[in-house]
Amino acid sequence: MAFLNWNDNLSIGIIQIDAQHKNLVNMLNQLYDAMSTGKGKEIITKIVKDMSGYALTHFGTEEKLMQQHGYPEFVQHKKEHESFIKKVQEFNNEIQKGNLLIVSNIASFLKEWLIKHIQGTDKKYGPFLKEKGVK
Ligand SMILES: [Fe+2]
Ligand SMILES: [Fe+2]
Repeated sequence: MAFLNWNDNLSIGIIQIDAQHKNLVNMLNQLYDAMSTGKGKEIITKIVKDMSGYALTHFGTEEKLMQQHGYPEFVQHKKEHESFIKKVQEFNNEIQKGNLLIVSNIASFLKEWLIKHIQGTDKKYGPFLKEKGVK
């Protein structure tokens, strides 16, 4: 069973965003698999890097849409993205130092963050952007 299963509660209702969120969930599951099958530092570091790179792209998509349409909660939303990026950088540093104990914290953190951010913060802009004609 996957570490995090996609379900309709995670859907924002905007096709491009849902597709990106699904990719993030897949990457998290890959990370969890790599960890639970005892994969080495190189592989885990690579997945964390890929995932944080993809998160940057995704945040860029959201921020662009929010800005384009004058979303009133843009600044607060962007702050949450920034704290995520900072946290993932910290994780990367720990892995580089050889601290693989932190790895189980990473997967739990990412899972919690994704669920909370998507269902809370991201979901709030769904109706706003849809009203502006974003599909
Ligand atoms: Fe998002
Ligand atoms: Fe977001």
